[in-house]
Amino acid sequence: MKPVRKAIFPVAGLGTRFLPATKTIPKEMLPIVDKPLIEYAVDEARAAGIEEFIFVTSRGKSAIEDHFDSNPELELTLQGRGKEAELAAVNATQLEPGQITAVRQMAPLGLGHAVWCARNLIGDEPFAVLLADDLIMSDRPTLVEMVEAYEEHGGSVVSLMEVPREQTSRYGVVDPGVINGHLVEIRGLVEKPDPAAAPSNLAIVGRYILQPEVMTYLGRGETGAGNEIQLTDSMLELVGQSPFHGLILNGRRFDCGSKVGFLEAGIGFGLRRADIRDDLRISITELLSNSGD
Ligand code: UTP
Repeated sequence: MKPVRKAIFPVAGLGTRFLPATKTIPKEMLPIVDKPLIEYAVDEARAAGIEEFIFVTSRGKSAIEDHFDSNPELELTLQGRGKEAELAAVNATQLEPGQITAVRQMAPLGLGHAVWCARNLIGDEPFAVLLADDLIMSDRPTLVEMVEAYEEHGGSVVSLMEVPREQTSRYGVVDPGVINGHLVEIRGLVEKPDPAAAPSNLAIVGRYILQPEVMTYLGRGETGAGNEIQLTDSMLELVGQSPFHGLILNGRRFDCGSKVGFLEAGIGFGLRRADIRDDLRISITELLSNSGD
């Protein structure tokens, strides 16, 4: 069984729900407390042993690559001023030379198309996909647990969470087979099903470990829900060819692609930070008591 060494980070979306903030700043660079969304995803991938980081970008997104590059001027200034904690935070963003690659998605044709844009860099290896706007708060990084499941069962693994049935039309939803604790055998997948037609209320979170064959299916360029090239539709073709499992999320997922989810994440992660927790609690209580309704 080949190890999972490569990860794709699709960051080419338009981020229309955050306009005008995302007119010039990529959505993935919006910060939760003091780290941009993309850094949380890259840190999770590093923890899971990923060695090659592939960003699928688009015009105007170069800030993402710059974020993981060195910034000698800033580093020297911080050093000169004795700002050691800040310098350590800046240095922590750097990966080894050659570990990051960026490919362009010329038009936002869908998540499946974005993943397919990285096909030449993936070759014949299994790979992970992480959506930075699905931010997960958990004791152990989600991708670490998924890689463990992959090492035990092989094939493909996706992250799952339970959603209220009336919300299934917002997600990719799985048709579950045998459920063993957190591990779910997957028999089928549907993108954005109506609640009445949904095979379950187990929705896919933005973390995937996939077999390279999925690139062949994506290459057909077939559109699905929302007239986009959906990743879920091509993943369905993997079901039955090799093991396919879901791992129910051991933590809380914030949908940072939505305004409320993004604000929730800021509060949730802020309340976990010893340096701001107490002040933040006081502010939240004050704001709630003065909100007027
Ligand atoms: P979203 O569905 O959140 O789309 O994409 P979006 O464009 O980022 O945001 P809205 O809906 O307009 O506000 C989920 C993930 O897939 C990537 C996005 O960058 C995001 O990380 N994506 C989506 C692409 O890279 N390319 C696409 O064509 C579509």
